[in-house]
Amino acid sequence: MVTDKRIGVLLGGTSAEREVSLRSGHAIYQALKGLGYIVVAVDVGQDICTLLTAEGIQIAFLALHGGYGENGSIQGMLEVLGISYTGSGVLASAVAMDKEASKKVFLYHDIPVPPYVVIDRKTAEDRLPTIDFSLPWVVKPASEGSSIGVSIVRQEHDFRKAIEQAYAYGSRIIVEQYIDGKEIQIGVLNGKVIGGVEVRPSLEFYSYEAKYTSGLTEYILPPEVDDAVYERAGTTALKAHQSLGCKGATRMDLRIDRQGNPYVLEINTIPGMTETSLLPKIARLAGYDFPGLIEEILRGAIHESE
Ligand SMILES: Nc1ncnc2c1ncn2[C@@H]1O[C@H](COP(=O)(O)OP(=O)(O)O)[C@@H](O)[C@H]1O
Ligand SMILES: [Mg+2]
Repeated sequence: MVTDKRIGVLLGGTSAEREVSLRSGHAIYQALKGLGYIVVAVDVGQDICTLLTAEGIQIAFLALHGGYGENGSIQGMLEVLGISYTGSGVLASAVAMDKEASKKVFLYHDIPVPPYVVIDRKTAEDRLPTIDFSLPWVVKPASEGSSIGVSIVRQEHDFRKAIEQAYAYGSRIIVEQYIDGKEIQIGVLNGKVIGGVEVRPSLEFYSYEAKYTSGLTEYILPPEVDDAVYERAGTTALKAHQSLGCKGATRMDLRIDRQGNPYVLEINTIPGMTETSLLPKIARLAGYDFPGLIEEILRGAIHESE
């Protein structure tokens, strides 16, 4: 046991990723309960401050994916309330959630990202931007997750439709060069790379459907890449994690081109935590069973608050 304090697993929330959050949160709750911790599950809505106080929560285990749970808002609120919490702090969470802001930090640290352009509906009006890198392009909202609003443009005449789809989730969107090759996700736990997984979706890309429908994606652990490529993916991912000052457990999404060069797509500061989610799969190969991983994340939060 790393603490005898009352832990609240914060789950649910109001973002588009609510359903996934409920699944992660319940799995975390069961694991902590099984380990003998004093734990309650708190489904978070607008009344969160009242709930946390009423429940007497001393440590928050965050299972809120997307929206205010992952973008630094809840983290800031918990700082104000003086409640310690798992994972990254306010700034790292906020920057990681915003794909434009995080790319700027990555570039500053020479961390490779795909060529990209940001479009803002407020200034772009109806004009389509000129893109000076070759097709295909990936169009995505600047601040979403779970592949929501993401599409791949293979022919220029599909561009406008893709932009409209991404605008449905925010006024800033990103057009990126499609990196042909493999998709690898790297897990970092309390400052160390614990491994990676290769995702091979049977659909066009690792879309919402491919992520959450069982059987649509093949997961290969460890990834089928040369040792040197895997090593480079790991160091690149760790550099990305450190560049934003992330803490606890993070999962970096990377594309690896045909020559073995890694490109960081994004950092997930509250990665999926169902027993079948990717980070738990990576952790299992590194010797952490699910409760062991959850306890390690908790340990990180306690260490932080000391
Ligand atoms: N530049 C890219 N090249 C190839 N595939 C991409 C690229 N950007 C995104 N994708 C595909 O879209 C998925 C979701 O993109 P990502 O940037 O990770 O956003 P999200 O936050 O929605 O997960 C990725 O897992 C990948 O399959
Ligand atoms: Mg992703």
